[in-house]
Amino acid sequence: MCGIVGYMGKQQAFPILIKGLQRLEYRGYDSAGVALVNENGDLNVYKTKGKVSDLENFCADKDITGTVGIAHTRWATHGEPSKRNAHPHYSQSKNIALIHNGIIENYLTIKKFLISKGYTFQSETDTEVLCQLIEYMMQEHNLTLYDAVYQALKQVTGAYSIGVIERNNPNTIITSKMSSPLVIGVGREEFLLGSDASAIIEFTKNVIYPKDGQVIRIERGKEIEICCLEDREQKIKPEIQQIQLSLEDIEKGGFDHFMLKEIFEQPKSLSLCMNGRLQREKKEIILNGIQEYGDVFAKARRIIISACGTSWHAGLIGKYLFEALCRIPVEVEVASEFRYRNPVIYPDDVFIAISQSGETADTLAAMELAKKQGAFIYGICNVVGSSVARLTDSGTYTHAGPEIGVASTKAFTTQVCVLVMMALSLAKQLKTIKDEDYHRIVTELCNIEAKIEKIFEKKDEIKEMSKIFTYARNFLYLGRGYNYPVAMEGALKLKEISYIHAEGYPAAEMKHGPIALIDEEMPIVVVAPHYHLYNKILSNVQEVKARKGRIIAIVTEGDTEIKKQTDYYIEIPKTEECLSPILSVIPLQLLSYYIAVAKGRDVDKPRNLAKSVTVE
Ligand code: AGP
Ligand code: GLU
Repeated sequence: MCGIVGYMGKQQAFPILIKGLQRLEYRGYDSAGVALVNENGDLNVYKTKGKVSDLENFCADKDITGTVGIAHTRWATHGEPSKRNAHPHYSQSKNIALIHNGIIENYLTIKKFLISKGYTFQSETDTEVLCQLIEYMMQEHNLTLYDAVYQALKQVTGAYSIGVIERNNPNTIITSKMSSPLVIGVGREEFLLGSDASAIIEFTKNVIYPKDGQVIRIERGKEIEICCLEDREQKIKPEIQQIQLSLEDIEKGGFDHFMLKEIFEQPKSLSLCMNGRLQREKKEIILNGIQEYGDVFAKARRIIISACGTSWHAGLIGKYLFEALCRIPVEVEVASEFRYRNPVIYPDDVFIAISQSGETADTLAAMELAKKQGAFIYGICNVVGSSVARLTDSGTYTHAGPEIGVASTKAFTTQVCVLVMMALSLAKQLKTIKDEDYHRIVTELCNIEAKIEKIFEKKDEIKEMSKIFTYARNFLYLGRGYNYPVAMEGALKLKEISYIHAEGYPAAEMKHGPIALIDEEMPIVVVAPHYHLYNKILSNVQEVKARKGRIIAIVTEGDTEIKKQTDYYIEIPKTEECLSPILSVIPLQLLSYYIAVAKGRDVDKPRNLAKSVTVE
């Protein structure tokens, strides 16, 4: 995520850019910056680590004049949060400044080429590479800024929305998008850029929503010019629309809550998570952390996975993945218990910490304990440069984008996705998986976003079903194998946002006690997609039915058996068993969301909870 803003018009740009950045801060920030062209044609760039207010203070004694400028709040993906990695990035000659939201997948290849042409780099970011490539195109082929941006973008793969300005040219902004959001505001003799309309709506409600692959030149006093990457000569007529949404609606993308927005963002967050890692054509996975340290995992006595809450549930799935695919023993530990029980840790242990925020106190303490005893520390984290990320020997970012809702949703599915990619990559390296199995699972992974979209088609069905259960005071969630941790996760989702008590259990454990709870009042959610333990969970369902429990089953599309035994069911597409948690959790997220809304709960900020538990 992150935010890009641009302005060109009659007014001084700086206050408008800062206001726009403040509107976009909800999209995540770890640093911020601004570039302006003043009336002498100087191109001034100012940037700081931290919030927009830190940038504003930093600029207090600077030349912030100019009626054209671009600005950026960063959510780092390549290069930790720092002043030098903040945007805007200068080109080598300092004639160009660029801001970017997204990931340039092939930046290393381009960087190597530019270094061979004598370019040097000031940052570790992928973004600076694009900026230097544009300069290379201008200098090498004597192109205008517009044509140089066009030619550079033809070399780039990945996701981007960009803004580019140049020294001695206060009359032009070049912008473009591919997969990342971008909106252009058209005022009276003034133009604005924004990652979304919240940065624009105070100045104009007239907007243009560019399409992927369009390259746009905004020039003072002229018509906006739009062309396509596929065909430079094809000119697109700008379509001006009116924004209908309120500011708050815009921030939530038109959804009622950030949690619902983030549930529906999961196909996109999974694509971003797999970007540059899942080679869709070759059907293989290239994960830097495993490429580099696979031998450490191969020699590991065992893997210890430690986390809290939802991240711990993802870790439980990691156990099934690594043991089934890589045949490496795995222990999964609640971080708050692990840190105090004087655990036995060996130097040849691999310790994996999972944390969305990267700041959870118990998880950090568990990491420090393992590090002190010499274990290899690997991190799976969503926040680049966070404390967890800085404590690791290596790791993999989930790239889910900022998660605003307190209840983790896209963080969980991207954590599981990273664990799947790690286990497959490692299994291939260790030759503990047959080639045909590897390719079959990877092929399925390529389809996982589309399969989630199919589950979203059931949202109204789930919403209707949720109204039936708002009365309940207790829920039981049951699952087996890979879907036992999903049952635990579903129960946690319901608890934390609806305040209804719920317990997740391995389905076979019912007869060891919980079955005493079951009566016709008790809703039981059974996560029962059709895999090798299907007949076992079918008999668990029959046990519940015999005691008149009210069963909601998550079943594989086309399943007939379990449907006969249950009161309600939600179908999910078939996929590989080891990928099924990414699908089976979706209906549970929606069920808990709609029940909580029906009960009038504060879904994004549930009582007593914080998004990141940075204290014990
Ligand atoms: C889950 O919905 C909660 N937000 C909570 O359990 C969370 O998963 C836990 O606090 C761990 O947070 P982390 O992933 O940021 O470390
Ligand atoms: N990939 C770029 C970086 O890490 C942009 C990240 C963003 O979207 O803020 O700087």
